[in-house]
Order: sequence, then C-alpha cells, then structure tokens
Amino acid sequence: ILDSLTTNSVRPLIELIDSLKLIGLDEDIGLPSIAVVGDQSSGKSSVLEALSGVALPRGSGIVTRCPLELKLQKLKNGPWSGIISYSGHRETFNDPLKVDTLVREAQNKLAGKAVGICDELITLEISSPDVCDLTLIDLPGITRVPVHDQPEDIGDQIKTLILKYIAKSETIILVVVPCNVDIATTEALRMAQKVDPEGLRTLAILTKPDLIDRGAEIEVLNIVQGKVIPLSKGYIIVRCRGQSDINDRIPFDKAMEAELKFFRNHHYFSSLLDDGKASTQCLAAKLTKELADHIKKSLPSLTEQIQTRLLNVQRDLKKMMGPFLSEVRALRVDHHKYKNIYISLRPVFKKWDIYLRSTEVSFKARV
Ligand code: GDP
Ligand code: NA
Ligand code: MG
Repeated sequence: ILDSLTTNSVRPLIELIDSLKLIGLDEDIGLPSIAVVGDQSSGKSSVLEALSGVALPRGSGIVTRCPLELKLQKLKNGPWSGIISYSGHRETFNDPLKVDTLVREAQNKLAGKAVGICDELITLEISSPDVCDLTLIDLPGITRVPVHDQPEDIGDQIKTLILKYIAKSETIILVVVPCNVDIATTEALRMAQKVDPEGLRTLAILTKPDLIDRGAEIEVLNIVQGKVIPLSKGYIIVRCRGQSDINDRIPFDKAMEAELKFFRNHHYFSSLLDDGKASTQCLAAKLTKELADHIKKSLPSLTEQIQTRLLNVQRDLKKMMGPFLSEVRALRVDHHKYKNIYISLRPVFKKWDIYLRSTEVSFKARV
C-alpha cells in the first residue's frame, strides 16, 4: 500500500483498490470510488459515454436498472477490448458496438425484462488507448412517477440503492444536473447534500448547456462558478451528444471537437474553458486527479481498518487453532499476497485447509 503512495499516477492506486475488491474486501470495508447520480434523463449515461467512448444503453424511461461499474483502463497501444462480468458470468469481447446489447442483456438477467431495478453490480471493463484510467459507477436515475408495470415504490427503491453508494464516506459523488432545470430543486443534489452536508466529496456536472433558455446563461455561469450552491470540489459544465447527434451518428471524437467549439464560441461560457471548468476533457482530467487524491487520503484509514481486522482474525485463528499454533512461534501473514490477506480478513470461516510445509504453517480458508 505504501509503495503506491510514492507514485504520482492514478493507475497503481486504482489497481490497489481493484485487488482489494477482488478479494471481497469491499463487503467489509468501504473502498474509494466515484458514483454518478442524477435525475432520470439528466445526462448521466451521456457523460459516461463521452468519458469511455462507447455507446451505453440509453433512451427515455429507466434505462440504467442495475449499478454499472465502468472500469476504464488506458493502454499505451493495442486494440480495444471489453470484459463484462456479473454474478458469475464473464465475457470478453472486441467490438465496442456490442456494449449496448451486452449491458441490456445483463440487466435483463439480473433485474428481469420489465422495468424493475436490482442492486447487483454489473462490471464493464474497457481497455483502450482512448480512455483515461478511471473507475465510475453509473446508478439508476431518480424517478418520481412509476410508469406502467413499475412497483409503486420504485422511487424509494432507487433512492435506497443510490444512498447505499453515496452514504459511504469513501465515495466521491458525481451529481449530474441539466442546465435547463432549477438546480436547487434537483433531488440528486439534495440527496448528496444530505450525506455530504459540507460538499467535501461532491462534484457537480452541468449538462445540456445548449438547451439553456435565452437570458438564463448568467444564472448558469454563477452556478458553475460556485456562487449559488458552493461545493468544495466545484462544478464542470459539459456538452454531450443530443438525440439529433445520435440519430446523425456523430462519432465521439467529432462530438468532443464540437463541444470544444461550442464553449470556445460561447458568449458567456468561453472563459470557463480556460478556467478548467468546461468540457469533457477537463472533466476526465479532474476526475482522475480527484480519484487519485481521494484514494491517497483514504489509505491511512483503510490500512487501519485492515490492521484491526487482521488482528481480530489472528486472535480468532489462534483460539481455534491453539494446538497447532503452539508449534508455531507467530502466525505469519504475507501482506503482499492477496490470497493471504483474504484468509486473514475473512472473519467467518466455514472450512479450513491446513498446509504443513516444513516448519511453516499456512492456512487457507473457504467461505
Ligand atoms: P440519463 O437518463 O441521466 O442517463 O440521461 P441520458 O444520458 O440518457 O440523456 C438523456 C437525453 O439527453 C438523451 O437524449 C441525450 O442525448 C440528451 N443529452 C445529454 N446530454 C446532452 C447535452 O449536453 N445536450 C443535449 N442537447 N442533449 C443532451
Ligand atoms: Na435515461
Ligand atoms: Mg442512463
């Protein structure tokens, strides 16, 4: 853990968190992550699309029905590749156009074909030279009115699911708010404020700047500059592909160029570009830095939590394995081997495998 503190890149930090997740630690301990929240159709998927360069399922109504963890990994070179995994299923693929179908398929399997939601996580890993190193979780959009087959309490179900993620102090909350609605009345921002009253881990993204009513630009400018609802991580305004761009099949790189042009030529917003408060590119850079800082800041407490668990488990282990352990001076745990951390941290063991190797004893537990 300490080794990765000395590097400046975010990659080793993300990899560290990923390996802790891999051994199931996130069930016991909150790990740093970024959760994307917003009202339905606020533009969450569009922002994630712009960051990842792949088309995600979208449309009107609840499209994101399960939490979707998007793991982006930058390659120096090499071909695009994707891996989708959920509840035991894992599939590798090479065609970015398959993402939409595969995510929908996964959601149908987990949450049913209808309009229900589910809190099981779908993980989508994308490796490509065109993405930045970043892990984000897309959550279902907040709705108020149930549509046809939806349960009456769908709104509450979604809020409960969102709260599960944003309540953790290790989560950076990315609130997506369209420029053309009243930001103060946004439910997503209200939820973020409830769990993060001082706005220390909340960052807001304003979408759809091309849809602002004439005359309302100054109000939006004030919001981006933090003069209306101050957030210590601030605001970034982005312009993503609208429905007509999608219908016209405007590719992501062209859309990004158009976005820059939009801000550069904007009478009110052009200065935001220089201030690092506008554009998807700027958002990507900011998020990468925020996530790295956040992980670094979380490490001491993470280490402490792990140490505490380790001690508890070692104590239990000694109790349970007393006769064996009298032979062994100390229980040795190799912190660098995930397998062993796993062994040490799982407080409840159903079965023990004991391997005796000369004078060393190591334990392997299955949960
Ligand atoms: P989600 O429900 O929050 O995931 O929202 P989506 O990303 O599906 O976006 C809802 C609609 O808003 C889609 O039709 C998008 O094309 C459109 N949209 C998103 N961002 C922008 C934007 O910056 N400008 C315009 N004009 N439309 C946008
Ligand atoms: Na939507
Ligand atoms: Mg969506």
